[in-house]
Amino acid sequence: MPVQLRPITPGTIGFGELESESLRHGFRMIGRLRQGWERGADHRFDRPGEMLAGAFLDDALIGVGGRSIDPYAGDRRIGRVRHVYILEGHRGAGIGRLLVENVIRDAGQHFSRLNLRAPPAAFGFYEHLGFARVEGLETVTHHLLVA
Ligand SMILES: CC(C)(COP(=O)(O)OP(=O)(O)OC[C@H]1O[C@@H](n2cnc3c(N)ncnc32)[C@H](O)[C@@H]1OP(=O)(O)O)[C@@H](O)C(=O)NCCC(=O)NCCS
Repeated sequence: MPVQLRPITPGTIGFGELESESLRHGFRMIGRLRQGWERGADHRFDRPGEMLAGAFLDDALIGVGGRSIDPYAGDRRIGRVRHVYILEGHRGAGIGRLLVENVIRDAGQHFSRLNLRAPPAAFGFYEHLGFARVEGLETVTHHLLVA
């Protein structure tokens, strides 16, 4: 069965496993996603241009990746790649590419640019997918012009 992308929420079955694995490995992006969601309105990926997708293999959630208005940019035309995480046992199989290409695909309908902040170990991944390094900003390590 091929990998399928579907909208998710922190209530989706399997989200808890993603969160606990990511925390064990020192990544906070999935925990922050759930905490933001619980805080409410601006953190639920439902404003124009926003989305949150899960990658499913045989109905098991194996990765997540979303897009929101960039909360740091002060400009609703600037989007942000959010909460990209693939379960360790499924890395290197194209799932991250699938999720990030899904985020990029129609981004230009809503945004002029996508920003992101990646950990150094993921710099090569994003640069391979076309993102450019941004120097000197605390909240942005890479961006991609989409419109
Ligand atoms: C970074 C991460 C999302 C990559 O996901 P993945 O599913 O392993 O990546 P893919 O298999 O889809 O790789 C896609 C392409 O990027 C390349 N790539 C992956 N990591 C790379 C790296 N560090 N440097 C250069 N290229 C890289 C792959 O070779 C592949 O190339 P191809 O499609 O041309 O063959 C994943 O390792 C992960 O979840 N890491 C922990 C959390 C994290 O760092 N998230 C990013 C937060 S912003």
